[in-house]
Amino acid sequence: MRLFAKAIGMPRRIDRRLGVLISGRGSNLQALIDAIAAGRLDATIAVVISNRADAAGLDRARAAGIETVTLSHRGFPTRDDYDRALVKELQARNVGLVCLAGFMRLVGAPLIDAFPNQILNIHPSLLPAFPGLDAQKQAIEHGVKVSGVTVHLVTTELDGGPIVVQRAVPVLAGDTAETLAARILEEEHRAYPEAVQMILNGDWRVEGRCFVAAAKSPTSVST
Ligand code: GRF
Repeated sequence: MRLFAKAIGMPRRIDRRLGVLISGRGSNLQALIDAIAAGRLDATIAVVISNRADAAGLDRARAAGIETVTLSHRGFPTRDDYDRALVKELQARNVGLVCLAGFMRLVGAPLIDAFPNQILNIHPSLLPAFPGLDAQKQAIEHGVKVSGVTVHLVTTELDGGPIVVQRAVPVLAGDTAETLAARILEEEHRAYPEAVQMILNGDWRVEGRCFVAAAKSPTSVST
């Protein structure tokens, strides 16, 4: 049954224990912490893992009483070895959903295979436009009039997995990469808790490269 569910892209029931992976500031981590505290997100953050000891997000986690782990990628012979170490830390805490929140590492097969359709990433553009680094700068340089944020499931394709939530923001005359980034960030902080809650609610499937949420049944029918 489990094999069948995986083959047609349906998730197992996903445990509400989150593992959040960061490398820096951690404002999206903070948005998840705040959403949980406000009752907008029914989840627990089991652990915050950073590949950098100086990530400011670690202080945010500690202030919220969340366990933190610093796991530097340096010293691991290969990328896969580092990913396997991450898997070990996450599984040791029974994490059901991994949230990449400014985690500046490519994740590979060991992590993706251990958490199939159970890893989310947040990216500051309307994917598939502007994947990779400096998405806001790419948007300014391209001259687009609208940009935004994407939360997507993580696959081996960089910033290419099924899209769960997108929110758009205008690009205004005179915007710089920094002013656009600030406008997008406000939407990121709304989009990430929303996407996590959708995944945990469980009524969704993956078809091809698409994330498909079940249509809500009408609560009343007018005649
Ligand atoms: C965000 O812009 C996110 O979209 C991108 O990295 C940045 C992380 O910011 N993946 P923060 O560390 O969550 O403040």
